[in-house]
Formats: sequence, structure tokens, C-alpha cells
Amino acid sequence: MVVVVSGSRVHSSVLGGLLASALGCRRVGVYSKRFPDGEAYVRVEGDFKGEVVVLVQSMESPQVEGLFEVLLLADALYGGGASEVILYAPYLPYARQDRVFLEGEPVSVRAVLKSLYFNGVRRLVTVEAHSSRALSYYPGEVLNLRPLPYMAKVLGLSSEVLVVSPDIGGVERADGVARVLGAERGYMVKRRDRVTGEVSMEPGDFNPRGRDVVIVDDIISTGDTIALASRTLYNTGAKRVSVIAVHLLGIPGSLEKIKASGAGKLTVSNSLPPVGGDNITYVDLTPLVAEGISRWIE
Ligand code: R5P
Repeated sequence: MVVVVSGSRVHSSVLGGLLASALGCRRVGVYSKRFPDGEAYVRVEGDFKGEVVVLVQSMESPQVEGLFEVLLLADALYGGGASEVILYAPYLPYARQDRVFLEGEPVSVRAVLKSLYFNGVRRLVTVEAHSSRALSYYPGEVLNLRPLPYMAKVLGLSSEVLVVSPDIGGVERADGVARVLGAERGYMVKRRDRVTGEVSMEPGDFNPRGRDVVIVDDIISTGDTIALASRTLYNTGAKRVSVIAVHLLGIPGSLEKIKASGAGKLTVSNSLPPVGGDNITYVDLTPLVAEGISRWIE
């Protein structure tokens, strides 16, 4: 049998509820509090002995708190006799530090993934992780869902749109969306002026004139990438620009930048808590997650 346990964060509880309904399984609550000295306390309030537990945690900022709670809960579940602990963390934090860029740095994501594994999380479900290199440090089994084609289909986008990646590195993502829609794909080329340090973009392999363009990306952090891509596309003749991204971190000012660039509709997944802002559509990834987990545990 499967049991869903969500961390104490509000969005973890929302995602856990959706997943338990989709899997048709029981949900067990978690009690959490802080000790007077600030240390965290958690207790799983229900029976999970002998069960496969899907632990659900949303990893928004402060990421360290979310991560640490998972370590405590995994220890409680593993130590308390769960037959298996699967973690569903839609946004994998620290994944961008997937290598040593400067001598003396850690590979942060390696530290995160090893800690999870050795604390009892033997399988991990995540969504559009930053890189396969990041995931390669996990000693267990990983399911990395790639939801952009699903999101484009849910939105009912037409085959007439031009699907554009804001950088060459994201071409594979744009290809996946273009393929499912039967649409054309393009990518932007980013340049940095060596003297001024100013970053500019230009359409790499396509002409946006008169086109309805959809920019697809994995993550919106500061919003600079999407805003620059959108401005450039309008300046080079695009008729309309909209955006689909998997993770919206909700960093203050990011949505304002994107809006000011003229980009219209913004669609993101529910991998992270919703942030205020008009014109944002959230696509629920639960059906994809439930399908992936069901295949694992059947
Ligand atoms: C870059 O490689 C990524 O795919 C995103 O385009 C980037 O991380 C977005 O960051 P920001 O919103 O800060 O420009």
C-alpha cells in the first residue's frame, strides 16, 4: 500500500492532497513545531509501518528549511519501518551548483542528494531538474519529469505558434514542445559585450516577423532572460509573445520585468507556490507525477 506524507509547508500540503487523490491512497499528517532555541521538531501522525511512503515537499525559499525538514521526516519514516521512502520534490534546489566553478566551492547539489539518499530517500521524483549532471550525483533512482510538452498541450496551443528557446542550451526543451504541437522551433543567441558587459540577444535561426511566439524555459528566476528575449522578439517584428516555464521562483521584481517587456500570457507549473500577479496560468502536474509513481510501485 502507498501512503502520502507531506511536509508542513502550505504548498507541500496542497501538492500532497492532490497526489493522494490522484493515487487514490491514504494521507498521513505531520505535526511540526520549533523548539525555543529555533530547532525544528516533526512527528508523523499516523500509521506507515510496512508501507511505501511518498514524501511530498515543496522546496521554495528558504530552501534549507524545506530540505532539513525532509531529512528529519525521511529519518522518521525510514527508521519507523516504512518499506520505502520516495521523495516528490518538484523543484530541486541547489541544482544550479552542479559543478565546481571556482576552486574551493562545493558541488552543492551533490551534498543535497547524498544527504537525502543516506537518510533513507531511495527514490526521487523531481521536475525539470537543472541538468542531468546534477541528477547524476544521486545514488538512488530518479524520475525527472519533463512537463513542457504536457503543459503546451493542456494550454491547447496551435501548430501555428513559433516555439522559441531563449538560449541554445534549451533547444531540446523547445524541440519537445514544438514536436507535440507540430510547430516550428527557434532559438535565441545571447551575446555579452566584452567592454560594457551588456547582454543582448538576437534570433538565432528564425525570423519572428509577424509570428505568434511562445518562449519556453525551465526556470524564471530574476526574469532577465525572459524579459530580454521578449523585448528582442518584439523589436524584431514578433506579433505576440507569450511564455511557458516550468518553475517560477517568484523573486521580487521578476514578474514586473517580464510584464514591462510586453510578454503577454505567462504559464508555469505548480512546482512552487503560486505568486501574486495577473495573467499567470498554473498547470497542475499531478497527473504526470501520479502516472510516474504508479509505474514505479505497481
Ligand atoms: C538558463 O540556463 C536557464 O534556462 C534560465 O533561462 C535562467 O536560469 C533564467 O534565469 P533568470 O530568470 O534569472 O534570467
